[in-house]
Amino acid sequence: MQDHKRRVFSGIQPSGNLHLGNYVGALKNWVAMQNEYENYFCIVDLHAITVPQDPKVLRQKIREVAAIYLASGLDPERCVIFRQSKVSEHAELCWLLNCVARFGELQRMTQFKDKAQKGGADVASAGLFDYPVLMAADILLYNAHLVPVGEDQRQHLELSRVLARRFNNLYGETFVVPEAIILDTGARVMALDAPEEKMSKSSPRPASFVSILDEPDTIRKKIRRAKTDSGSEITASPDKPAITNLLDIYAAMSGRKVSEIEADYEGKGYGDLKKDLAEVVVEGMAPVRDRAYELLDDPAELDSLLDLGADKAREAAQLTLHDARARLGLD
Ligand code: AMP
Ligand code: TRP
Repeated sequence: MQDHKRRVFSGIQPSGNLHLGNYVGALKNWVAMQNEYENYFCIVDLHAITVPQDPKVLRQKIREVAAIYLASGLDPERCVIFRQSKVSEHAELCWLLNCVARFGELQRMTQFKDKAQKGGADVASAGLFDYPVLMAADILLYNAHLVPVGEDQRQHLELSRVLARRFNNLYGETFVVPEAIILDTGARVMALDAPEEKMSKSSPRPASFVSILDEPDTIRKKIRRAKTDSGSEITASPDKPAITNLLDIYAAMSGRKVSEIEADYEGKGYGDLKKDLAEVVVEGMAPVRDRAYELLDDPAELDSLLDLGADKAREAAQLTLHDARARLGLD
């Protein structure tokens, strides 16, 4: 490979509302890593359409994600920021990988099982079933070494590794086998009103998530109303899922250890924790929100930045795709 810096790839779907979980589970870590690596951060619009989307809303959400990427601190000088659907190599490599992926292994993906179960497996789109193979194509196309994601993507990442190895074994060394980067804090933020559920973009309950674009007072209100556990001690433990979640968010947003925060709140009440946590979240999020809205005021600028990113991404993608095609006997 011609580059000496190792590559990072990750992406977020432009659907629903980007939330605190996306921020601490993914974005914040991307920003922290960007100096060390060669970075590709994608807006995975082809993944978003595996469930029905309103075209007008989708168009808006794509810009919103781009604005949030930049507002969070991703620097277009150091990161290639682009839309998946603008680099058709993703879809083509997905097909090639479809031919080495196995029906059985896709059937075992828990995200597919969960989503298909909710809507009915019979009417789930074939795209939803194939979702992890497209994700593998995203990563392998850039020969990414590292993939910073939240805990929910661990199984998908494992499949990407399996597909890379299988292709390499069948056709000769072609792809880098990627590694997931999943941090100890913030990798699985739970719903504020139901701490047994993951905080999710597609939740119909606004009280369950803090959106990156929520106003400070909305954030304060949502955290104040977050569910708590019985008892009054502020400790992270399996029998206190709600307080554990609040402590985890606190740790991820402040960069401090859960044990330190627990010590600070010895003898204090849930209300004290929530009040301070709200301020920590507001302080971290308000500048991102303000900057994102500023950027959204100039959609043409965002679009042109994304086009530029797609041009750069395509250059790298074409090399790998050509390699894979040649290995298969297609070139
Ligand atoms: P998605 O919202 O599915 O597009 O996910 C984009 C990124 O955010 C992925 O890296 C996910 O693992 C991460 N993510 C999504 N939800 C959460 C959550 N509740 N907690 C932590 N990370 C999350
Ligand atoms: N499936 C990921 C999610 O929903 C998004 C995604 C698509 C992704 N392609 C990727 C993440 C490649 C990392 C690398 O969270």
